[in-house]
Amino acid sequence: MREGKKKILVVEDESYHIHVLLDILKPDYRVSISKDGTDALRKAVSKSPPDLILLDIIMPGMSGYEVCTRLKADERTRDIPVIFISSLCEVKNIVRGFSLGGVDYVTKPFQTEEILARVRTHIAMREMQIRLKNQNIRLLHEIGEREKAEKALQQANEELEKRVAERTAELDTANRELAVAKEKAESASRAKTEFLSRVSHELRTPMSPIIGMTDLLLMSETPDAQQREFLTAIRDSAAHLSTIIDDLIELTQLEAEDSESVCEAFDPEMLLESIMETLEFDAENKGLQLSVFCDPEIPDSLHGDPDRLEKILKKLVENAIKFTQKGSIRISAAPGEKNENELYLRFSVQDTGIGIPADKLQDLFGDFSQADGSSTREYDGLGMGLTLVKRMLTLMGGNLWAESEEGKGSTFHFSLPFAMI
Ligand SMILES: Nc1ncnc2c1ncn2[C@@H]1O[C@H](COP(=O)(O)OP(=O)(O)OP(=O)(O)O)[C@@H](O)[C@H]1O
Ligand SMILES: [Mg+2]
Repeated sequence: MREGKKKILVVEDESYHIHVLLDILKPDYRVSISKDGTDALRKAVSKSPPDLILLDIIMPGMSGYEVCTRLKADERTRDIPVIFISSLCEVKNIVRGFSLGGVDYVTKPFQTEEILARVRTHIAMREMQIRLKNQNIRLLHEIGEREKAEKALQQANEELEKRVAERTAELDTANRELAVAKEKAESASRAKTEFLSRVSHELRTPMSPIIGMTDLLLMSETPDAQQREFLTAIRDSAAHLSTIIDDLIELTQLEAEDSESVCEAFDPEMLLESIMETLEFDAENKGLQLSVFCDPEIPDSLHGDPDRLEKILKKLVENAIKFTQKGSIRISAAPGEKNENELYLRFSVQDTGIGIPADKLQDLFGDFSQADGSSTREYDGLGMGLTLVKRMLTLMGGNLWAESEEGKGSTFHFSLPFAMI
């Protein structure tokens, strides 16, 4: 919008009327004069067009009506309000002026207040029109932009929905494939466990006669000293093989989850003594001192699965004997947490053996792992002992952990709940 005073073009041929109009308008407006229609039309399309035209009807040459008709026919000047100047004051002329696009009329002789009021009103109306037009343009532009944005959003949404649907379909397929693969793997694993179970039982069967017959031969008078040596080697190897087969059978039973824990009364101290008696000989053979300590606070009778507890402790003590060259092994039991009818016992098997490097300790709790898994390792074994211990403990609601220092020894701990009936 143009700033400052508004510009009015007065189209009038008579000097007297021009002067009167100049006196009236000059204080408030910039006034430009045209004495004929041709000049008026030229000024109307100039670089600085008028905001309003006061147009005399009767002029030499082109009449006011003609000028108005041309102004309204030209797109550049169509919107400039035209007020006719009429000295005739006849209804016919006024009506014609309106029909040609004039917005108002003033009559000669001029009334200052009337002219100013009419000019002011039409300039204000024109300004409002321009403002409304600009607002309209802005609104149309905004609507266009919004529609574009909505369209883009809708497209993005559709794209997203499409992608989600594709991903969901892919995931469904992957899930189905995974379920099939899982079922396959599980059935393969079940088949392997069943096969392992059959193999171990088949291997177990001939072991008893081998050991039994060898014992019978050893008891007889027949073999000489060297044959006795051979027979003893056969019996020891067969006994070792039996232990491995027994571990395998135990493992397959635990894997197949077809072994349940029993719950029967036992005396923890007696159980520890019995383990000591069984393994004392092996410990002594290596020059190791085996001792047992059972906290006097532990009741004489608890309910649980003594066979499994014995197997767990034996596995840990066997390891302690195997991995200790000199020193001692101590088995201990202490009471732990207690609730209404349950008591936790904490067992520890401590040795002064080779210990376990800190970076290997945690790995040992993975299945079948050994601190030294190399083929040239010093100690025999399949890495089955701790795996069995963990599985049995899990079944009985217990947990296993260890502390160790390389070269100084290890302590394996576990804690288990027992019923106090
Ligand atoms: N008391 C211990 N001192 C040092 N290392 C131990 C001790 N107990 C277990 N380990 C380490 O943990 C590994 C796993 O023990 P685990 O009893 O499972 O297997 P293994 O004794 O090697 O073989 P298996 O028990 O089948 O005869 C062992 O190979 C050894 O490296
Ligand atoms: Mg072992």
